[in-house]
Amino acid sequence: MNHQPVIKEQVDLTALNSLGIAARARYFVDVASVDQLRAALSWAQEHKLKRLLLGGGSNLVFTRDFDGLVIRSAFAGRQWEDVSASGATLALGAGENWHSAVLYGAGAGYRGIENLALIPGTTGAAPMQNIGAYGVELKDTLVSVTALDCVKDKVVILSSDDCQFAYRDSIFKHQLGRYIILEVRLALSRTRPLSLGYGELAEYFSDHPHPGELTPLEVAEGVMAIRRRKLPDPGQLPNAGSFFKNPVVSMTLWEELSSRHPGIVGYPGKGVVKLAAAWLIDQCGWKGYRNDRVGVHNRQALVLINHSGGSGEDILALARRIQNDVLRTYGVALEIEPRIVT
Ligand code: EPU
Repeated sequence: MNHQPVIKEQVDLTALNSLGIAARARYFVDVASVDQLRAALSWAQEHKLKRLLLGGGSNLVFTRDFDGLVIRSAFAGRQWEDVSASGATLALGAGENWHSAVLYGAGAGYRGIENLALIPGTTGAAPMQNIGAYGVELKDTLVSVTALDCVKDKVVILSSDDCQFAYRDSIFKHQLGRYIILEVRLALSRTRPLSLGYGELAEYFSDHPHPGELTPLEVAEGVMAIRRRKLPDPGQLPNAGSFFKNPVVSMTLWEELSSRHPGIVGYPGKGVVKLAAAWLIDQCGWKGYRNDRVGVHNRQALVLINHSGGSGEDILALARRIQNDVLRTYGVALEIEPRIVT
C-alpha cells in the first residue's frame, strides 16, 4: 500500500472525465495512502509542476492537455462508527464511488443520503460542490471531512461548519487546491423521517403507492428511476450533470420576473428565490439543440452533452451562447457549475 506511487506519462484522460473530452495528462498518478499522496506532491513540487486532483471526473471541463501532474484519489474504505440503536457514522474513503456508498448505507437500513442516489463521482468530490438532489444536500448528514491541508502540510479534520457549505459551494471551491480530501464522515439515522417532499419524488411515490413504510433503499430506487428518466447516462451521452447553477435572485426581482413571465419556476428560500435555470434555458429554445459535436439534452435543458468528439471549447462556446440568451431574455446571469480546467 505504501510503496512509492508509479508516475505515468502522457495519459489519455478521455475516459476519465464524464464529458468525454479528449485531453492528456503530462503526468498521472494513482494514490491510495497519505504517504503516496505526500510523495506525489513532493515530486510535483520538485519538478515545478502544477497539479490537479481527480475524483470521478464528473464535474470537470478540460480545455486543453494538462501540463502537470494529475493525481487520482484512490483512498478506499467504508467503516461504521458510533453505532447505536438510532444511528451510526459512516466513514468513507475519498476514492469510494458515491452511488455505491449510498446503496451501502441505504441497504443497511440507514437514512440520510438515499435521495443522493446515482449522482456520479467519488465520495471525496462530494463535499467540493456540496452535492444535492431531491431536497437533500450532502451537508445535511456530513459530520466531518479529513483532508491533507497543503498549506500547513498536515492532516486536518474539518467540521461541517468549517466546510462553509452552501448551495453547490464549499470552502474546497474557495480555497481550491489547499485541501486534499481523504475521508468523509456522515451521520446516518435509523429514525429520521424520509425526505419525500420534492415535487417529482412525491409524484413518483403517489404514482407507485407502497404498502407500509418505505425503506431508504426503496427511496433510493425511486430516485434512480426518476434520474434515469430525465438525466442522460454519461456512458451513452457524455455529460457533466447540471452545467449551470440555479440562479438565486432577490424577492423583488422574482416578483418582477413572475409578473412578466407567467410560468417561470422558482423555489422560495429565506428572502431569496432560486430560479429553475432549466426552465429559462428551455424557454429560450435550447432544449434538444445540437450541432455536429455538442448539444443540450432533450429531456433536461440544464445538461450539456458531448455528442461526438466535442472539445472543452465547443462545450464552453455553447454555454456562452446559452448564457447570453438567458441574460438578454430574462436579465439573469447563469453561472457555470463544473470546474473548468485550463
Ligand atoms: N424544467 C424545464 N425544462 C427542462 C427541465 C426542467 O422547464 O428541460 C423545469 C421544470 O418545471 C422543473 C424545474 O425546471 O420543475 C426544475 O427541474 P428539475 O426538478 O429537473 O431540477 P433542476 O433544478 O433542473 C436540480 C439540480 C440537479 C438535481 C435536481 C433534482 C442544480 C444545478 N441541479 O436540477 O442536480 O438532480 O435539481 O433535485 O441544482 C447536478 O447538479 O448535476 C444535478 C443533476
